[in-house]
Amino acid sequence: MRRFVITATAAALATATVAIAGGHGGNPAVKARNAHMGLYSFNLGMLGDMAKGTTEYDAAAASTAASQLAALAAFDQSAYWEEGTIQGEVDGSRAKAEIWSDAAGWAAKQELMKTASASLAEVAGNGLEALQGGVAGVGEACGACHKAYRGPRN
Ligand code: HEC
Repeated sequence: MRRFVITATAAALATATVAIAGGHGGNPAVKARNAHMGLYSFNLGMLGDMAKGTTEYDAAAASTAASQLAALAAFDQSAYWEEGTIQGEVDGSRAKAEIWSDAAGWAAKQELMKTASASLAEVAGNGLEALQGGVAGVGEACGACHKAYRGPRN
């Protein structure tokens, strides 16, 4: 009986794994990191709209979005920047090979994102001007990494 339960559990897990990996097709690590980028975009988008005046400045909402950006930046992302998942070799990836060949440079760009978003989180609730300065810093951190480590559209 015990063996049956274990076997059945293993089979169920295998099925679940296939279902997850099969999802909408594509590499799970690539999908996970792009989902992370989507959350960056969403939160930064809200802040950018306030900074530009497209939406009204709201101190509480700005603080929340900025804290979420900082929390995301502090994630350990190493598992989904899986070695070998390079653009051209894995479907859907726009990751340049330099992410892995220049690990120190890559780590520096992640660190820049961490410090820029932590600074933004500190000031986002202190008024529109403070928000604008902080948002610009984060935007630069996103852009600096994309310039160095993200390939052209597929
Ligand atoms: C440390 C490097 C790094 C930082 C910092 C970074 N990105 Fe990215 N981003 C990448 C790479 C590399 C890719 C391509 C990943 C892939 O396709 O495998 C990417 C992809 C994206 C995508 C495309 C997602 C998709 O579904 O195709 C968006 C949008 C994005 N980033 C937004 C942002 C925003 C907004 C920020 C800042 C708040 C940010 N990124 C910060 C490296 C970074």
